[in-house]
Amino acid sequence: MKLCVIGLGYIGLPTSAMFANAGLEVVGVDKKQAIVDALNNGQVLIEEKGLAEFIKNVVASGHLRATTQIEPADAFIIAVPTPIKPDKGSDMRFVKSATEDVATVLKKGDLVVLESTSPVGTVDSLMLPILESTGLKAGRDFALGHSPERVIPGNILYELVNNHRVAGGIDEESADRIAALYKSFVKGEIYKTNARTAELCKLSENTFRDVNIAFANELAKICEAENINVWELIEICNKHPRVNIHQPGPGVGGHCIAVDPWFIVEKEPKLAQIIDLSRHTNDSMPGYTAGRIRGILEGNGIEGRAKVAVLGITYKPNVDDMRESPVIELIEILKGEGYEVAAADPFVGDREGLPSFEDAVTGADLVVLGVNHAQYKELDFEALGKLVKHRLFFDTRNFISREAAEKAGFRYYLLGKKD
Ligand SMILES: NC(=O)c1ccc[n+]([C@@H]2O[C@H](COP(=O)([O-])OP(=O)(O)OC[C@H]3O[C@@H](n4cnc5c(N)ncnc54)[C@H](O)[C@@H]3O)[C@@H](O)[C@H]2O)c1
Repeated sequence: MKLCVIGLGYIGLPTSAMFANAGLEVVGVDKKQAIVDALNNGQVLIEEKGLAEFIKNVVASGHLRATTQIEPADAFIIAVPTPIKPDKGSDMRFVKSATEDVATVLKKGDLVVLESTSPVGTVDSLMLPILESTGLKAGRDFALGHSPERVIPGNILYELVNNHRVAGGIDEESADRIAALYKSFVKGEIYKTNARTAELCKLSENTFRDVNIAFANELAKICEAENINVWELIEICNKHPRVNIHQPGPGVGGHCIAVDPWFIVEKEPKLAQIIDLSRHTNDSMPGYTAGRIRGILEGNGIEGRAKVAVLGITYKPNVDDMRESPVIELIEILKGEGYEVAAADPFVGDREGLPSFEDAVTGADLVVLGVNHAQYKELDFEALGKLVKHRLFFDTRNFISREAAEKAGFRYYLLGKKD
């Protein structure tokens, strides 16, 4: 069986390799020549645990090659980006153009699968008409559907194989054919359904997490008003066997949780009220956190152009991914308010030209923990105290030892508890 995978990024590349490793003849298609050249040389341009070695072996086996031009195949998987526009509407240009490419080579008996995270109706309202413009009829002449990807970067090769999967077809036969295709390497369960359910399934999973985090962030604000420690509150609540409140913080980032709920809001703006409010609640957190910073500085009599040192700028701990990072927005807000901001990050500092940890904190009026990178767990507060101007520390993640900070003479402040 010959399979064409369109889009060789974080999702398409490892997926191609999995199918090739399972014995299919796989052709990866990407518009970027550098990605295609690298793959044909058995190399990868993205960082992912175990991927470079896996790709090298699979390419050497002759089952996987890459090209910039789509080719006829028995099955097509589309794994191109689906970002949001500045107005929070979905940007489906890449899915549209990839589908148009598939239409140029589509023939009777083929299978077309969308993997990209997409608004409900993408398969039947955007892709189906393009594919049927060939004169072929969906269902009768070719199978079509959606199988969303739910892997986590950093553990993609394991999760691709072991996660459960959804196979959503425009009809039962399409769902059967999608499930059979993925069965070639997936060890998890494959749940068959229709394409629209599969689309909303992926969006609902990430939205569940976004709404839960918004609830935690709202609790953080309530706790600050009511003189309660939100972290202690959530820890105790979560001892209940049926409660699982997520963690608050300075906002939600990344290209999935901060993006996917908007696809639901765009489609059903009148109905998706909790979802919309949650997005706004989470998006309010960088501004709210900036307000706490202003309050801490003023409360300590520090007026004017204070220096704020921010530790960590990625969207989550222990990764080098800055997409939609709320800490970057926090920094922009602080700069806009006239503060001098110096940020350091062990994962992206060199790449982004950030100052070193020492340079960032030297002369700081306030040190803010933005991201709970493992390196920051054991901060040497004695050494830090010698570099800063004022011994003030604001922990937005409940990650740092208050005791260690206070022992070194720091005043310790925590998001979600007002002192
Ligand atoms: N990365 C993740 O962790 C993750 C997890 C689950 C779902 N997803 C979803 O998977 C989809 C792909 O994400 P990604 O992270 O792999 O994106 P990516 O940006 O890493 O890769 C996409 C690739 O598609 C290529 N491309 C774009 N348009 C093309 C076209 N018309 N023809 C050929 N190639 C084209 C780009 O050059 C790029 O190399 C998105 O919908 C994303 O939301 C991503």
